[in-house]
Amino acid sequence: MRRFVFTLFGLALANGSAAEVSFQKEVWPVLKRHCVACHGDKKAKGGLRMDQVAALLKGGETGALFKAGHPDDSLLISQVSGEKPEMPENEPPLSAAKVRLLRDWVAQGAKIDGEPKTLLPPVSIPSVYATAPAVSSVSISPDGKLGAAACRSEVVLFSVEDETQLRRLPTDFDLVTHVTFSPDGKLLAVAGGSPQQFGGLIVFDPASGKKLSDRHFGTDTFFKGAFAPDGQSIALGSATGAIYLIPLDPATAPKLIDLHSDWVMDVAFTPDGKQLVSGSRDKTTKLSSVEDLHLLRSVDQSAEGINAVAADGLTAISGGNARALVGYDFKLALTGISVTGSGNGAQPITNKDKYLRAFEAQAGAVLALATSGDRKLLAVATRAAEVRIYQTDTRARKTALAKVPAPVLSVALNQDGSRLVLGSKSGQVQVWDTASGKLLKTLNPVPVQETATAAK
Ligand code: HEC
Repeated sequence: MRRFVFTLFGLALANGSAAEVSFQKEVWPVLKRHCVACHGDKKAKGGLRMDQVAALLKGGETGALFKAGHPDDSLLISQVSGEKPEMPENEPPLSAAKVRLLRDWVAQGAKIDGEPKTLLPPVSIPSVYATAPAVSSVSISPDGKLGAAACRSEVVLFSVEDETQLRRLPTDFDLVTHVTFSPDGKLLAVAGGSPQQFGGLIVFDPASGKKLSDRHFGTDTFFKGAFAPDGQSIALGSATGAIYLIPLDPATAPKLIDLHSDWVMDVAFTPDGKQLVSGSRDKTTKLSSVEDLHLLRSVDQSAEGINAVAADGLTAISGGNARALVGYDFKLALTGISVTGSGNGAQPITNKDKYLRAFEAQAGAVLALATSGDRKLLAVATRAAEVRIYQTDTRARKTALAKVPAPVLSVALNQDGSRLVLGSKSGQVQVWDTASGKLLKTLNPVPVQETATAAK
């Protein structure tokens, strides 16, 4: 059979009827998308790099990657073909059309018609920004002493109490979407990625700024998420519609909970670490089991996308573009529920009026939520120029921080809720004392050109 196919190829070539495959335009994008994360400058699994022509021609530990004109004798083809293709490792196999393309290219002599071109410009981090980048995520250490702010592709660590030199931590992400200190404050997890390329998670030691691990996952970027209460893993929403449960130990593979039909914007753990609340652009808020990795219940379907979620021991909370902040009593929402089907095909909502726990009306779309480490306080950022703080048990408003630089894209509270950090679209970071409602400091985490700021 193989021989037959190959002969047909020979014929087609001889007749000059097979379209010439371009390495640069067709083959390289396939390698870049599916292979280079493990076979590139960061990692060269099996001794193989595919991001440079010389390395591609050299091959890996086993030898040449291909034999020009002989696809059936080429590792490149055998590794991606068959019942259960070896490569890409632990990922869905290449489509038949892509395998065919690689085959045709080798069969036609594996000609290199140009250097690999990167589809997107590589991430560059300016030493001084022309305009202040939006602060996409913030975090504060449990003791309230150290803050972290995400600006485009980098994270900046700062001291809450004094003007100590800021530390800038670069990443290779197009956008850092989430930063969070571990529950013991000893680690800083930085998540994000590049759209339609990869989701990334980097763990830093905040004391030294040292990178402890740096991993790429899947084919699309991560959004927001949370550390598990035991600090051993982190849950992140993904643009693929899945929740990634990623153990901090880089030797352990991530687990996926595939529930949503659109971007998962945020994920929160219950304080016992057993359940997850997730909110998605698909407008649903869902509860799932960490142990079984399956849906427990779709608790709500909003009129608009959900941007943020949170949880205390009794209630799951979600908010989004519908300008509503809603609580869901876990116990009642999960009583007597037997889930049939998964994802959006799960149980219809029946006792919703019994488990809904409404908060007061919100002044604008809810953009971000944060609970204190002890889960007693909930901070809510909306499009309006105030951040409200609620008691989670009574859902009563405790205070509102006024005249914040709206829109605030991210908020964080420390362990006892005494300090709040917020990050604004305008590029500012602020630290507030929640008891007195006083602004403690405002900072611009990254250097910005004076003239550009003045011109704005
Ligand atoms: C998630 C990581 C990952 C991805 C993605 C991946 N590989 Fe690999 N690849 C590996 C690992 C690990 C090895 C070495 C272990 C082994 O040989 O089984 C390897 C080995 C290989 C080898 C053998 C190298 C040698 O000389 O021994 C080939 C060929 C290969 N990969 C091709 C590909 C191709 C083609 C793609 C894209 C379609 C790809 N790989 C994507 C992880 C990956």
